[in-house]
Amino acid sequence: MVALASPESRAYMSGFGNQFATEARAGVLPEGRNSPQRAPHGLYAELLSGAAFTAPRSENRRTWMYRLLPSAMHGAYRKLEHKSWESGPFNEVDTPANRFRWDPWPAPVARTDFVDGIVTIGGNGGPEAQSGVAAHIYRANASMDDRYLLNADAEMLIVPQGGALSIETELGVLDAAPGDIALIPRGIHFRVKLKDAEASGYICENFGAPFRLPELGPIGSNGLANPRDFLAPVAAFEEGPREVKIVRKFLGKFWEGAQNHSPLNVVAWHGNLAPYKYDLARFMVIGSISFDHPDPSIYTVLTSPSTVHGVANCDFVIFPPRWLVAEDTFRPPWFHRNVMSELMGLVRGVYDAKAEGFVPGGVSLHNCMMPHGPDAATFERGSSAELQPHKVDNTLAFMFESCHVFKLTRRSLEAANRQANYDWVWDGFQAVRG
Ligand SMILES: [Fe+2]
Repeated sequence: MVALASPESRAYMSGFGNQFATEARAGVLPEGRNSPQRAPHGLYAELLSGAAFTAPRSENRRTWMYRLLPSAMHGAYRKLEHKSWESGPFNEVDTPANRFRWDPWPAPVARTDFVDGIVTIGGNGGPEAQSGVAAHIYRANASMDDRYLLNADAEMLIVPQGGALSIETELGVLDAAPGDIALIPRGIHFRVKLKDAEASGYICENFGAPFRLPELGPIGSNGLANPRDFLAPVAAFEEGPREVKIVRKFLGKFWEGAQNHSPLNVVAWHGNLAPYKYDLARFMVIGSISFDHPDPSIYTVLTSPSTVHGVANCDFVIFPPRWLVAEDTFRPPWFHRNVMSELMGLVRGVYDAKAEGFVPGGVSLHNCMMPHGPDAATFERGSSAELQPHKVDNTLAFMFESCHVFKLTRRSLEAANRQANYDWVWDGFQAVRG
């Protein structure tokens, strides 16, 4: 068996949505055509399309793979139960008209790999609608050794919070540690190996249009997440007979099949549909250098558009270290109610809208029109602080923001780690005499 590329020899190709070409063996990528009568080295050519064939060029995504065996070579799949990974339509419980916050989920005791360690907080839309997102956390203490996942329902945006991952995919290997994000397109086989004893983090499972870079408008041609900082893997493959299991997520259910070879047997590929990773420290933050706290849309890393122009099925937004310099301005986030729904997580540090209670690994949820904003301590501090230039440091919060309301799972509503007293955050404000 040939091992996948070792971490020391890990290599990436730079750019977002580029037309990449890569081969793990010299000369096996066909030149000048995609499906020659016999592909070089006798490899099997296979197309993976991530957009309708007729989608506009700017949105068209597809990749040609040249592999040791066609991925069609397998038997029937059988139903598999997953106890905590749920999909739309999320109608199991009524989602209360409340604000929610959770402490970190407990670490698993039994052997738990990345797939088994996924717990759904809530979501909207669903695989059948091909719209909406699901928000999950994962906590794992074991690598996926002889099993692989294919998610036919959604692309998966992985936000590591604790522990580094080695994500081995059909198109190559991505290393992702806290501070990075990794995206696995819909329908690509992969497995997750742990580089530390435990791993934890967040996942946005996007049933809708694939994430892309936001338009920059008057910001211009540079800034926010720059395309060249997105990294796609070079081709790497496993070969030789081996009994493996593949888990498919399809229409919100789980199906398992066995085969006698790894699905990671792509020796060369070319195209613009590929997994990628991105170091969030590369995000160029834009903010006010005069006055007022701008809308958080300036922190958008990636966006999945809905069918309504300018309205996101999901924005992935981060609040990284940055300078605050605005004059005569309440610098923390203001009080607000939004039509968009906001699910937040914290990778590290402290979030500047809350003095306490929102901790790394935790989650908060402020759905459509639920009033929220700074707690009393933050309001007092923000209202009386001497407005010197101030570096917000040691922090990395993020938000999955959706035009669809996040509906809770019964599991997250009844979770022991849900903070029953979250509303008290907004207690203790002094009434102004009218
Ligand atoms: Fe908010």
